[in-house]
Amino acid sequence: GHGPGLVVAVDGPGGSGKSTVAKAVARRLGLRYLDTGAMYRAVTQLALEQRVDLEDTEAVAQLAERATITPGTDPDGPTIAVNQVRVDAEIRTRAVTNAVSAVSAVEAVRRRLVAQQRQIVADAVGTAGGIVVEGRDIGTVVATDAPVKVYLTASTEVRALRRSRELGEKGVDDVARTLAELGRRDALDSTRTVDPLLVAPDALVLDSTGMAIDEVVDLVLRRCGEAGFVV
Ligand code: DC
Repeated sequence: GHGPGLVVAVDGPGGSGKSTVAKAVARRLGLRYLDTGAMYRAVTQLALEQRVDLEDTEAVAQLAERATITPGTDPDGPTIAVNQVRVDAEIRTRAVTNAVSAVSAVEAVRRRLVAQQRQIVADAVGTAGGIVVEGRDIGTVVATDAPVKVYLTASTEVRALRRSRELGEKGVDDVARTLAELGRRDALDSTRTVDPLLVAPDALVLDSTGMAIDEVVDLVLRRCGEAGFVV
């Protein structure tokens, strides 16, 4: 178990509002925040930069084993560095977004990042009262004993609109393209053999399609209260 510390697992597909909700919950409860997707994106960014063939799982695994991925866990300003170099903007490009499913499907990459994520969670529980962790496999793999698990979702259209806005796009064509890419990534993330996106049996499932962020945050906080934590 995680002792007295609170671990909140927030899983769900891209564009479901996970990041916004997870950061807000961490801020409200004074906890750390970990974006595990940023870690997979960071390995992907490095692979693209070093022109590693993404089909070559052996080469991708080696790259991940040699790289030092350093996520900053402040919910007010999360950061990510690869080999001590900050790559906060680089990991959000379309090139990285479209290549990350291939990298995150490599078993050795996941094994390495999951071990590091568990260590970060243990450290935060020991020193900072706890942590809100967002990703695809937090409640099912990384922190199976988390006292609070949330699976956040939204309609594909709403998720594509949010993603498109994040990317600073304005045109209808851009949204259509983002929608197509999102569908492709959802399919890859849900059907991969290693740790696919699944709903943990004990997760609170929230569909944010017609909800304001604050409402979602309040429901998660209420759940934390029900789990015995002071909110
Ligand atoms: O949440 P995001 O869009 O930043 O995640 C980027 C990719 O990383 C996503 O396509 C799936 C993968 N991912 C994963 O496999 N496991 C996680 N815990 C988090 C992200």
